[in-house]
Amino acid sequence: SERTLVLVKPDGVSRGLVGEVISRIERKGLSLVALELKHVSKELAEQHYAEHKERPFFGSLVEFITGGPVVAIVVEGVRAVPAFRQLAGGTDPVEKAAPGSIRGDFGTEVQYNLVHGSDSADSAKREIDLWFPNL
Ligand code: GTP
Ligand code: MG
Repeated sequence: SERTLVLVKPDGVSRGLVGEVISRIERKGLSLVALELKHVSKELAEQHYAEHKERPFFGSLVEFITGGPVVAIVVEGVRAVPAFRQLAGGTDPVEKAAPGSIRGDFGTEVQYNLVHGSDSADSAKREIDLWFPNL
């Protein structure tokens, strides 16, 4: 069993999709270990997305993720990292995320793709330490 960090991004929170996301995590058989509604500082956003800091969309990504509260969740279960990536669907909700996935069912455009999930066990550890330093 392993852990992953899930974020319901500001668009998911403002569209009222927190329950939908949690419900899908639970129905998959994964468990919630920690959960917090959080206003994200610029510093936390920049650290979270550090791997993208040279990308042209970095500024707008940081602005978006700090623009409203997010729900941060530590999820645990068998192969939780790839399991949640499958639930989320591909990054682009229109062309990559399959229908039936969170992004495929509800997403509109690449920046507004509703959820984040750690992309590896190493990323998960780094991100959980960042978002839940007391866990
Ligand atoms: P996360 O789980 O949020 O990390 O998404 P991901 O792993 O599917 O994608 P990636 O890490 O490559 O990109 C991080 C986030 O940056 C994405 O979820 C999008 O919100 C945003 N993003 C990625 N590519 C683009 C892009 O080409 N344009 C814009 N505006 N945003 C992008
Ligand atoms: Mg990513």
